[in-house]
Amino acid sequence: MANWGKHYDIETPEKPRPRRRLSKPVYRTALGSVYCGESEKVLRTNRLKELHGQAQLVFTSPPFPLNTKKRYGNKQGDKYIRWFAGFAPLLKEFLTPDGSIVIEIGNAWERGRPVMSTTVLKAFLRFLERGGLNLCQEFIWYNSARLPSPVEWVNKERIRVKDAFTRIWWMSPTDRPKADNRRVLREYSDSMKKLIETGKYNAGPRPAQHHIGAESFKTNNNGAIPPNVLGSDELPSLNELVTPSSIIKAANTGSRDGYRDFCRGRDVTIHPARMPPSLAEFFLKFLTDEGDLVIDPFAGSNTTGAVAEELGRHWVSVEARWDYATHSISRFDPEAITETCADLSIVQLDQAAASSSSAALPLFTS
Ligand SMILES: C[S@@+](CC[C@H](N)C(=O)[O-])C[C@H]1O[C@@H](n2cnc3c(N)ncnc32)[C@H](O)[C@@H]1O
Repeated sequence: MANWGKHYDIETPEKPRPRRRLSKPVYRTALGSVYCGESEKVLRTNRLKELHGQAQLVFTSPPFPLNTKKRYGNKQGDKYIRWFAGFAPLLKEFLTPDGSIVIEIGNAWERGRPVMSTTVLKAFLRFLERGGLNLCQEFIWYNSARLPSPVEWVNKERIRVKDAFTRIWWMSPTDRPKADNRRVLREYSDSMKKLIETGKYNAGPRPAQHHIGAESFKTNNNGAIPPNVLGSDELPSLNELVTPSSIIKAANTGSRDGYRDFCRGRDVTIHPARMPPSLAEFFLKFLTDEGDLVIDPFAGSNTTGAVAEELGRHWVSVEARWDYATHSISRFDPEAITETCADLSIVQLDQAAASSSSAALPLFTS
């Protein structure tokens, strides 16, 4: 297989031409396209409006309200709430009648105070109202590897503990969006496997007023139904999903992170807030089928698009920053890229790539 760096590379200016059309994809694959620009504008172009009513899932991790204006697009306070909530009606237009919106967002803290900001929560409630959406379920993503933060209160003064989770809100205009937890089953625990094998357990009432039937645990359902707390140490990790073709292990394994290697090799900024592919995999499998369309309006390094491509879902991603949008191309096999815009060229580095590739290999040097 041809590689970035060895067989192919990209050429692109640091910034795109000022009058580049927002409705022109930065690059495309057989299943998806990345657009570069502010979502509030890109999603209103005629090109994108053609997708109204077609997305089975909007899956995204938006910028959160920082208490200092460090990064692109991080608004604060009421301005953030208005901006964020304004996306609800806009994104809803793209949904199929039984489609879902899933938003992952971290916690924010008040500037200079050991106090959490409630801006995200207010923004979320406003989002639900503006979109006329139901909260289907709330999930918690626990990241045990997260570095201690906020440093001031956790490491220096030692008056708070590590902030180590993000919230995930699953919303839909309908009470019954398409969903199937049989597609995200986890491997049974050893004790459960034994129980199924022997068929021996204590039936009857439990303290929490549950009644365990004599046959309840005898059926092998091919795996355990996952809880809405994902990624914790106590629970099996998402890497242990037992549904077919789990791409997660490869995608998450340090040295095989192609996107990171690509950015390092070129001395360009690695996206600082990449989500684990396992998170996208979980929700794409749970809420969509092959062939469905998934939209990520705050795509960053395009984790969502890459996972969607692996899982055979169509996808559309929008990212405001040119560097993030263009470097995300490295999440795909160079030979899977079917089109690039005039400001992004794929160049061939050696003959080996030419001979190893099929005649249909797309090569763009515009
Ligand atoms: C939390 S990151 C997403 C990370 C992504 N899930 C990943 O795995 O790489 C949010 C992204 O939204 C982008 N962004 C901020 N405002 C935007 C806007 N108005 N339209 C599109 N993208 C925006 C930021 O540049 C940033 O890359």
